[in-house]
This record gives sequence, C-alpha cells and structure tokens, in this order.
Amino acid sequence: MGTRFLPATKANPKEMLPVVDKPLIQYAAEEAVEAGIDVLVFVTGRNKRSIPDHFDKAYELETELEERGKEKMLEIVRNILPAGVTCVYIRQAEALGLGHAVGCARPVVGDEPFAVILADDLIDGAGKGALKQMVEVYEQYGSSILGVEEVPPSETHKYGVVTPEPIADRLWNVTGIVEKPAPEVAPSNMAVVGRYILTPRIFELLENTQKGAGGEIQLTDAISDLLAEQQVLAHRFNGTRYDCGSKLGYLQATVEYALKHPELKDDFREYLLGNVCSRGI
Ligand code: G1P
Repeated sequence: MGTRFLPATKANPKEMLPVVDKPLIQYAAEEAVEAGIDVLVFVTGRNKRSIPDHFDKAYELETELEERGKEKMLEIVRNILPAGVTCVYIRQAEALGLGHAVGCARPVVGDEPFAVILADDLIDGAGKGALKQMVEVYEQYGSSILGVEEVPPSETHKYGVVTPEPIADRLWNVTGIVEKPAPEVAPSNMAVVGRYILTPRIFELLENTQKGAGGEIQLTDAISDLLAEQQVLAHRFNGTRYDCGSKLGYLQATVEYALKHPELKDDFREYLLGNVCSRGI
C-alpha cells in the first residue's frame, strides 16, 4: 500500500514513483524483458490505474509531440516497452499479501515456470540485470531460484530469510525459509529480495497457504512448503539493490541513478560537490 511514502502514495501507487525519470515499475518491466520474458503480468489493485496507463499507447500525447516536432520525446513515449511484449493486468480485489497476489496470476501463467519481480526492490545489475542472471542459473538447474543478499542481522525482520547450504559460487541450496524473523531467531542473514523464479507447483501450494506473518498470505510460507518437495536455490546476484520501499533507499537510488544518467551526471556531480559536500554534511 506504500504507506511509508504517504502522502505521495495517497492517490498514486508506489510503483509509479520515479527514480530520476522513470517509474519503478518501468525499471522492473525492462529487467524482465532483458531476461527474455515477453508476457508481463501486473497484479494491481485500486489506486494503481496509472500502471496500465503508463504502458498503454498515449494518443493525445503522441499527437501533440508529433505536431511540435519533439522527436526524441516521442521516441521515449513510444518505446516504453519493445514490440512483441504483451501486458496482462489482473486486479487483486483485496490486498491479502504477496502470496495471494502471486496466486492471482495463476490463470495467466498456467503450468509454466515464471518469475516474480517486486518493483520496489530496484536492482542495478552492473551490466546484466538480476533476473537475467537468475534465468541463466535456472537454465542450468531447472529449479526455483530466490534472489538473495546479505543484510545486517538487525534487519532480518524486514525480509524472508533462508537457511542456506553452499553449493557453488553465489549459489546455495535452500533448506528452510522464514518470513520476517527477529534477529535472535533468524536462520541466517541471507535475505530474499524481490526476485523469484518459481515452478508452477507453487500455485497449488498457495491455494492452501494460511495467513502468516502480519496476517498476510505469504509467498515465503508457500516456498517453505515447496522446498520440502523440490529443490529451491538461492542466488546472490551481481549488482546493487536499493530498497525503494523506504525513503532512504529511494533517495540513495535517486542519487546513484542521477550520477549515471547521460544527460544529468555532469551537472548533478558538480552540484553535489560544489553545493552539498561543501556545506560539510
Ligand atoms: C516481501 C516478502 C519478503 C521479501 C521482501 C523483499 O516483503 O514478503 O519475503 O524478503 O518482500 O523486499 P515486504 O517488503 O512486501 O514486506
């Protein structure tokens, strides 16, 4: 519900918050497309109408830009997604939890492995997107894969946390997983960040998943059932994750992405060095 960003998220979904000039949801869509995914399923709810609008054709805007000869802008607006990518929108009537949201996609996904991206975890994949890296691991092992990273032990209560058994570089076998454990009971400090590749068996398990942590139907609980039947791996992707569900993470992402933005980086760096750093903060 994006409560941490109120009032900015009162009428707009958190996934539409921009980092420099693109909304979070577009970074997520681009990462999926880069990973070879050509059907994007958006599980949305009330308040999230601007998401389908963002990926839709904007006739009035395009005509206006065309008439004014703003070619560059026109290209940006037209190429939000490459041709050949299909978007499907599913309305989750009640926000019952991540597990429930993923279950809502079952009629579209069917009996195929699929990926989940939580758009508020923005990952700068250092040359290759996190999901593409995970797809490569999937191609080798054929099992469910969770994107993980180490977090400070004091922060385990914000994440799904795995019990990892090392099997290769940056790769672990998951023997247990628990949602938002307190540091004293966390099985490790290896936290799941918003990237998953899952086998379709998860849908059947989700049907029977009861409310868990926070009174929500948790994907983590269904994954815990899944790993009793099938191999589940944890992969530490290369790259930096920004928790854009928190104000600090969002600001960090904004600064870092601005410092890499082709049109902005020089002026922004100069501003930071000349104005912000010189104040001695
Ligand atoms: C969700 C998942 C959690 C995961 C986290 C990653 O939690 O339930 O397992 O570690 O995303 O960002 P949320 O952040 O929605 O509370």
